[in-house]
Amino acid sequence: MGADVRLAERLTRLGTESAFEVLARARALEAEGRKVIHLEIGEPDFDTPSHIVEAAAEALREGFTHYVAAPGLPELREAVGDYFGRTGRPAYAADRIVVTPGAKPIMFYAILALCDEGDEVIYPDPGFPMYESISRFVGATAVPVPLREENEFRMDPDEAASLVTDRTKLLVLNTPHNPCGSTLTRSDVEALARVALEHDLVVLSDEVYFAIRYGGEHVSIASVDGMADRTILLDGCSKTFAMTGWRLGFAAFPMPLVEPVSRLIINSVSCTAAFSQRAALAALTGPWEPVEAMIEEFHKRRDVIVDGLNHIDGVSCLEPGGAFYVFPNVKELGRPSDEVAAFLLRDAGVAALAGTAFGAHGEGYLRFSYANSVEAIRDALDAIADALPTLAG
Ligand SMILES: Cc1ncc(COP(=O)(O)O)c(C=O)c1O
Repeated sequence: MGADVRLAERLTRLGTESAFEVLARARALEAEGRKVIHLEIGEPDFDTPSHIVEAAAEALREGFTHYVAAPGLPELREAVGDYFGRTGRPAYAADRIVVTPGAKPIMFYAILALCDEGDEVIYPDPGFPMYESISRFVGATAVPVPLREENEFRMDPDEAASLVTDRTKLLVLNTPHNPCGSTLTRSDVEALARVALEHDLVVLSDEVYFAIRYGGEHVSIASVDGMADRTILLDGCSKTFAMTGWRLGFAAFPMPLVEPVSRLIINSVSCTAAFSQRAALAALTGPWEPVEAMIEEFHKRRDVIVDGLNHIDGVSCLEPGGAFYVFPNVKELGRPSDEVAAFLLRDAGVAALAGTAFGAHGEGYLRFSYANSVEAIRDALDAIADALPTLAG
């Protein structure tokens, strides 16, 4: 008989990221011998560039195998501050930078450090599921701003402003956006900054996809006058340098948050792996060509998948300006999006996510990641086009 393990109540408020669950279901089908095309996974399918791998190998040989300072190696903190300055964000002094194992802990620590029970966090819906999950976990109220297709899935600053109350503490932005691929314009960002300044809000600006854009400019809210001191600028190596498994994220924090977040690191993970940090140093200071080559390839795939989806009856898809996701509208199919996603996995052998995996306002949409080859994307489009008539019938 199992022990009577009773979980804490707070666990009922902790969500999950269903990409990992769909991946497990897809793998189970593959174990039965079924072929599955993976368009559910949110990570570049490219290898980490070799000069970064070499830097890590060298670091291991040099003895970067020990604990290091909680907020990060001084040389990496310095390099991150410069990197922000070189990539269209403000340049920061090293003492504003904190390094964590992946970018996700930045969200966790930021929300944990800022939000008391009853505080409110305004976040995009559809959006990366962790914003809501972590906010609710710490006892804060998660307040969604619907992102509407009519507005190209960009957050409407007036709508965000209308949700502010005297309990609002934090405004979460994400550009380029997961799952919609949308990018905020300069005027969106300036209007959102006015909301934050007027209501004294802290902004968590998730810019992990900042480099993965197809032409448009990246505008960080941190670069608007008066915003650098109230913005947590979140970024990392996972997407830009195809380094998801290295677990290397970083952020520039308002100065009063640096010490509390460092203490949260000491209480949870002690520090980020030293050799991953040395690899990140090589990534941030090394050649940009591998990043450009990856973006060029993503660009081709985006064009193929958007065009293909728009040729399938019952499906329509906007052209996203960034990240490596499309968020097609499947409302005409007349089924809830989780049913459509389950059908596509079972009957077309294509793994995708329901829009509702990203919040209630994702109903009627699917998310496909195009971090897969053009050939696999074409095969997936054919399989979807063949299978969908049997869903409708
Ligand atoms: C919007 C967004 N932010 C942050 C992350 C997390 O990145 P990391 O793997 O570095 O924790 C992801 C990963 O999918 C993401 O989509």
